[in-house]
Amino acid sequence: MLENRSNMDWGLKNRLSSIIKPQNNRALMLAVDHGYFLGPTEKLEDPKKVIAPLLKHCDSLMVTRGVQRASVPATTGTPMVLRVSGGSSIIGEDLSQEDITVSIEDAIRLNASALAMSIFVGSKYEYQTIVNLGKLVSEAEKYGLPVLAVTAVGKELGKDARYLSLACRVAAEQGAHIVKTYYCDNFEKVVQSCPVPIIVAGGKKIPERDALQLTYNAIKGGAVGVDMGRNIWQSEHPVSMIRAVRAIVHNNQNVDQAFKLYKKLVSEEPRKKSNNNKSNNPNQKKSNKPNNPNQNKPHQNQK
Ligand code: R5P
Repeated sequence: MLENRSNMDWGLKNRLSSIIKPQNNRALMLAVDHGYFLGPTEKLEDPKKVIAPLLKHCDSLMVTRGVQRASVPATTGTPMVLRVSGGSSIIGEDLSQEDITVSIEDAIRLNASALAMSIFVGSKYEYQTIVNLGKLVSEAEKYGLPVLAVTAVGKELGKDARYLSLACRVAAEQGAHIVKTYYCDNFEKVVQSCPVPIIVAGGKKIPERDALQLTYNAIKGGAVGVDMGRNIWQSEHPVSMIRAVRAIVHNNQNVDQAFKLYKKLVSEEPRKKSNNNKSNNPNQKKSNKPNNPNQNKPHQNQK
C-alpha cells in the first residue's frame, strides 16, 4: 500500500513505514495516551512501569509528550506516535472540545514518527476538530510527519458502520495518513470507503480471548492492525497478551492459536509474590474485570 503512494515525500514515507511495516502492511501500536483526558487510568497509574516491559513488543507507542519525556527511555528504538490534541477532561463539560496542544517543533524535538489527534464527527465541536485536523496535516507535511486521525466517539454517537464510515472518510479527506477507529459489524464497509489505512482501537477491557477475536476480525476486515491499550495493560498478563496480539497481527495466527500461545506464555511467567496467600496459578480462572469496574465507566461510555 505504501508503495502506491509515490506522491509522498521520502521522510513521510519512511516514518510511515516505521509504523505500518512494509513487509506485511501491518501495525501493532500500543496506546498509553489515555491519561490526557482520564488522568491516572486504572492500571496505567505508573506509565513507566507499564510501558517498560511492553515497549519491545509493539511496533510503535501512542503517547503524550508528558509521558514520553517522563516515562519512556530516550534510548528506545520504538517509534513514537505523539498525541498532539487535548483540552478537555472526563470531568469537564464536553470531551469534544479539543484543540492542538503540541507544536510541530516540540514533536520534532521528541523525534515523533507520527502525530495523532482526535476528531469528533457529529459532536458540538465537530467543526473545530475537523478544521484542526486539516491544519495539522498541512503543517506536518512540511516536515514529512504523518498524521493519525482518531475518530473519537462521544456517548451520544453510535459505533455502527454507517457512522464510522462517515467519520473515517471525513478524516481521510482532510489528509490524515492513517485513521484509527473502532471495530463494528460490517467493518469491511468502513475499510472499503476509506482511502487510507485503518487501525482499530481495542476499546474497553474484555476477556483476553475476545480481544484476540477482535484483533483477528479487524485484520480480516481489512485493518492494517490494532492500536490497543486497555486490553493489553489492564490484562493480568500484559506481556503475554501483547505477544498473543502480535501473533495475529504479524504472524497470521488465528484466534485459537493466539489464545493457546497466550495461555502458554502465562504458564511460563514467573509467579508473582503474594502476601495474602492467594494462589497465583495462572491456570486458575481469573476475573477479567478491572478492580473497580466503575472507574472505567465514563471512558467506556464516551470513547
Ligand atoms: C483514546 O482516546 C485513546 O486515544 C486510546 O489510545 C484509544 O482509545 C485506544 O486505546 P484502547 O485500546 O484502550 O481503546
